[in-house]
Amino acid sequence: MKILAIETSCDDTAIAVMQARGTSIKTLAQVTASQIPIHRRYGGVVPEVAARAHAETIIPTIKEVFAQLGLDPDRAMKKPPIDAIAVTSGPGLVTSLWVGVTTAKLLAREWDVPVFGVNHMVGHIYSSLVNQKLPEFPMLALIVSGGHTEIVWMKNPTSWKKIGSTRDDAAGEAFDKFGKVLGFSYPGGPEISRRAEKGNATAIQFPRPMINDGTYDFSFSGLKTSGRMWAEAQKKLTPKLIADGCASYQAAIVDVIITKTVRAIEQYKPKTVVLGGGVSANDALRNGLLARTKHIKGVKIHIPEKQYTTDNAAMIGAAAYFTKNKFKSSWRSLAANPAFEI
Ligand code: KG4
Ligand code: ZN
Repeated sequence: MKILAIETSCDDTAIAVMQARGTSIKTLAQVTASQIPIHRRYGGVVPEVAARAHAETIIPTIKEVFAQLGLDPDRAMKKPPIDAIAVTSGPGLVTSLWVGVTTAKLLAREWDVPVFGVNHMVGHIYSSLVNQKLPEFPMLALIVSGGHTEIVWMKNPTSWKKIGSTRDDAAGEAFDKFGKVLGFSYPGGPEISRRAEKGNATAIQFPRPMINDGTYDFSFSGLKTSGRMWAEAQKKLTPKLIADGCASYQAAIVDVIITKTVRAIEQYKPKTVVLGGGVSANDALRNGLLARTKHIKGVKIHIPEKQYTTDNAAMIGAAAYFTKNKFKSSWRSLAANPAFEI
């Protein structure tokens, strides 16, 4: 079965064609058109600008993916070898979501194929399972993105229970805000992790909020304030100071996230742990999670390929397939749901 997957929840117009068979799904072709250069001049995503860019880009991007498959793009737009469409229906920016959802509705009607309205966070949960077989359940998912920091418990592929989430800012937001203070362009997360490579992670003792409070919830707004106060207190931010600041700030975020996840693994005893979300591109988080779970027996840790960490369409196709008919909709009733909770 071939699935056309569409993701436009924020600032990436992402399209993929996935091949699903039995208990696995793989990417046949994909293109992600990033709007980061467009939003950079505003220091963050501007919803109206994002929606217009999605509207201009979505059909050319679908055609590009068809061309990657060796199809004639114009002919494929009329009747492609596609069995289903999966689209992110929420959560996200409503104007951005509508572009993907409307396109999916029109194409599902035109091509007479089923359409799935997929939850973006469930997409991130399945991102490490693209090009993999469905693993053993129960599963624990750690999702760390620009808008969410969540630990989710899954007894089976279609049941999810949030056992912890952020009470204020998400981890990605905490990275981006510190990046802004240091003068990095949007989004600051990747630049912080680059600078951190040359820094000393124990140079500055940033707070580790809620690390030992016994819950699986997170709070990063206090850390964000500490980061800003530290930067403002420096006479001159030399490259060495910036590297140390980035390494120490990153260490605080990663330490809190991993400490809570390890505790959740010990309490819930899952067979599988999956990591996902834009911040899962961070090497300190990826390597730290592997290192600090090595001693735990009977659990397999799945880390997404780097290309599936930030928003992409392959994970939306994977989520639609692995959750069977949970997200099945119809071209008539499918709608964007910006506050879509899992
Ligand atoms: O999942 P995502 O692409 O979008 C949302 O659904 O939010 O996540 C984007 C977030 C941004 O905050 C970005 O700074 C962060 O992921 N990010 C990183 C890294 N790469 C992306 N944060 C830390 N280290 C990285 N290497
Ligand atoms: Zn995302």
